Amino acid sequence: AFHLHPKEVHFASDGPTGHFDRQQLQRGFKVYREVCSACHSMRLVAFRDLEALGYSEAEVKAIATQWPVPSPSINPDTGEAATRPSVPADRIPPPYPNEVASRAANNNALPPDLSLISKSRHGGAAYIYSLLTGYRDPATYRNEEGEALPAESQPGQGLHFNPYFANLNIAMAPPLTSTGQVTYADGTTSTVDQMARDVSAFLVWTAEPKLESRHSTGIAVMIFLLIFTGLAWMAYRNIWAGVK
Ligand code: HEM
Repeated sequence: AFHLHPKEVHFASDGPTGHFDRQQLQRGFKVYREVCSACHSMRLVAFRDLEALGYSEAEVKAIATQWPVPSPSINPDTGEAATRPSVPADRIPPPYPNEVASRAANNNALPPDLSLISKSRHGGAAYIYSLLTGYRDPATYRNEEGEALPAESQPGQGLHFNPYFANLNIAMAPPLTSTGQVTYADGTTSTVDQMARDVSAFLVWTAEPKLESRHSTGIAVMIFLLIFTGLAWMAYRNIWAGVK
């Protein structure tokens, strides 16, 4: 078999007490903005949602302004569809107007919307991280049994070998290729590994922004049930205390 399971990788949001690392989410958003958003939409996230990453209202406004969105009007001078700057209430605008344009720009493949991708792909964030860091040279690749990739599994025209992708050959070229591809505001060195980690963490947030309150509610419920079980046990002992 040539298909690999996702790598072991830890995220701050993992486990029942997991929290988001907001610095990391901001770095991940920057990777999405500067790399992934060229091809992938993020239709469920509005700019104002980004305040949860620790950006101020003014920063969110500034981020939105740099992202033009098609406006329903036509530019009277050129006859072209007009655009306007986004406002915080807008969703993040998609890179292509429709599926036809999207496929035309991507060798007939369709870059999926990334809003819920960490939920819709088996393995979640670890899968995304593995995919982004998992491209290999099909000519020299050997699987665990030491076998070379058979001719029928070699990537065809416009496809790229990646053993973490279900059918081994993916239409997406490696999007993260070199250190420094994105400049992080917090001074973190943007190695390919770091960018892959950060954007994967960001995609956990986009798919489940309320993860932290779900975790803290869960912990509170467990504590309540523990105390309630204790009380129920004591009541049971008390009620049956006189019965032989
Ligand atoms: C597919 C993530 C950048 C084009 C995908 C998939 C993910 C992903 C998770 C789905 C894989 C699956 O189906 O299991 C990302 C991330 C990016 C990024 C996190 C930024 C770091 C790009 C860029 C392009 C692109 C810049 C275009 C130049 C595509 C295409 C597919 C795809 C065409 C469909 C592949 C297929 O079905 O064979 N991407 N992507 N992606 N991506 Fe990206």
